[in-house]
Amino acid sequence: MQKVVAKDLKKHFKTGKKIIKAVNGVDISIKEGEVVALVGESGSGKSTLGKLLLKLIEPDAGEIFFNGMNITDLDKNEIRPLRRKMQMIFQDPFTTFNPIYKIGTQIIEAIKFHKIVDENSAEDYLAEFMRMVALHPDILKKYPHQLSGGQLQRCAIVRAISLKPEFLVCDEIISALDVSAQVQIIDLLKMLEGELKLTILFITHDIGVARRIAKNALVMKDGKIVESGVIEKILYDPSEDYTRKLISSVLSIKK
Ligand SMILES: Nc1ncnc2c1ncn2[C@@H]1O[C@H](COP(=O)(O)OP(=O)(O)OP(=O)(O)O)[C@@H](O)[C@H]1O
Ligand SMILES: [Mg+2]
Repeated sequence: MQKVVAKDLKKHFKTGKKIIKAVNGVDISIKEGEVVALVGESGSGKSTLGKLLLKLIEPDAGEIFFNGMNITDLDKNEIRPLRRKMQMIFQDPFTTFNPIYKIGTQIIEAIKFHKIVDENSAEDYLAEFMRMVALHPDILKKYPHQLSGGQLQRCAIVRAISLKPEFLVCDEIISALDVSAQVQIIDLLKMLEGELKLTILFITHDIGVARRIAKNALVMKDGKIVESGVIEKILYDPSEDYTRKLISSVLSIKK
């Protein structure tokens, strides 16, 4: 079954007299349970596309389907029952959490809002997810600034997956972390993907990172998907010059 489908999706931004065609006619189709990487240079439209798919922003044209249902024109009230099922995790976990509240309080708030479990069992319910991401449940009693970036990103993952989502958009979620935390988060996502049967769009500018988590990739340039398919094949035989440059840029950094 196709989990998420986009047809000729467009989002243009006007800044002064200039029009930025952030997403400019994108067709994609993500199967249930699939992890797909979305790679492309900075400004190519990756984050905009991710937000469009989750209806966090409205498209100018095109259609979006979730579980076969056309969600393009659903209003705020109509989309609410679907919100829980579609979660996004961002690059900087310090923007995910409000600095003035304890982490656990904030996650429980979301669980209560979506009526996942009743209030009395929320803490036990969360403790299980904390174990899953290898964090001590006591961390829930801390404030965001008391944690490392890697720990806080795991909490952001807990926040998202404790809502039992079906589709997860991960937007550069390891870019702000040091190398060892990056490896841990990738391993964690792989484990969760298998365990929770998630469908994931993994956004990254680094096609080398993409291959560690996903089998297939979409390559984005100037608001368009210019190449797609099995990552190993793209890496060894890219059909676009642009993709070749993307590959050599990450390989040269790693040398
Ligand atoms: N709200 C907005 N208003 C105006 N322009 C925007 C807005 N959001 C994005 N853009 C522009 O749209 C283009 C695509 O941006 P987007 O953030 O989707 O790129 P990206 O591929 O995620 O880049 P990065 O890798 O740097 O995160 C950029 O030129 C950006 O400046
Ligand atoms: Mg982005």
